[in-house]
Amino acid sequence: MPQYTLQINGQPSKVDVAADTPLLWVLRDNLDLTGSKYGCGIGACGACTVHINGVPTRSCMTPVSTVGRKQVTTIEGLDPKGAHPLQQAWQELDVPQCGYCQAGQIMTAVALLKENPKPTDADIDGEMSGNLCRCATYLRIRAGIHRAAEIQAKPATAKKVKA
Ligand code: FES
Ligand code: FES
Repeated sequence: MPQYTLQINGQPSKVDVAADTPLLWVLRDNLDLTGSKYGCGIGACGACTVHINGVPTRSCMTPVSTVGRKQVTTIEGLDPKGAHPLQQAWQELDVPQCGYCQAGQIMTAVALLKENPKPTDADIDGEMSGNLCRCATYLRIRAGIHRAAEIQAKPATAKKVKA
């Protein structure tokens, strides 16, 4: 079995797996990073979305042998405290229902806000259309992205102490 040293969430991770093993299986089964989910296995639902060199990528369709030294970021590596503006907004607005699709939703939304820090509803709908949610949380996802854009633009400042 070939050995691969992957760069996952800023750390090198060695795995011994067949070359055609999907990155999603390596993340979940070999590295215990189970935030990314298996939905369809054919690139159609977005539940498995991770970033590879900052680009949202379907890990179910990415053979491990193609990853090389590229930087892989999963939902677990997005923010050390789980406090990325999108994660803050998601909590504030209770975006998830069952939660199954939400890691993929957030990883796609991260890339959207990086490209477009103040997206319109249409921008959001266009960019997020490949991420399906069987609980139909689409309106809350949209609201969450708008809220994250606000948080990103004006990060919370420390409260001033009265003299
Ligand atoms: S599980 Fe990868 S796109 Fe559906
Ligand atoms: S929250 Fe249940 S699938 Fe999206």
